[in-house]
Amino acid sequence: MAEELTIATSQDKQERYATLIPQIEALVEGETDVIANLSNIVAALKQTMNFFWVGVYVVKENQLVLGPFQGPIACTRINFGKGVCGTSWKEKKTILVADVEAFPGHIACNSASQSEIVLPAFKNEEVALVLDVDSDKLNDFDNHDQNALEKVMRIIERLI
Ligand code: SME
Repeated sequence: MAEELTIATSQDKQERYATLIPQIEALVEGETDVIANLSNIVAALKQTMNFFWVGVYVVKENQLVLGPFQGPIACTRINFGKGVCGTSWKEKKTILVADVEAFPGHIACNSASQSEIVLPAFKNEEVALVLDVDSDKLNDFDNHDQNALEKVMRIIERLI
């Protein structure tokens, strides 16, 4: 695995993602432990993109259970269809929320969160986990984040 992360100095998000994604591939190469790999992936995302909160919720016993994350403490369990994460699980798709206050049923784990993107990873066509990224700014995520983070989800799917 790579021991050091090279972070693009550019303020351009696309460039930062472009530098990061091949490094994520290298980071997980040769490691088979799922928790170790997810931990490093969310740490690399936090370090590179400086997200307010980034982490995974894993489907376990019909709930989403908090997994590796970086940021303030968070809710540990989310039910199917609840909040942005539970909705992404139910609808089996990425959900982009420009203003969390305007999302019915949004779960406020931290009152500083203002916008959010949640992406599912699939195993045998079922959602196995979701990646949740929160920002303390309104409208902070766009299609570039979605496209880049969906690439990360495809890497995660090979690991779970
Ligand atoms: N806001 C999420 C809950 C998870 S925390 O933000 C870390 C939701 O509505 O599903």
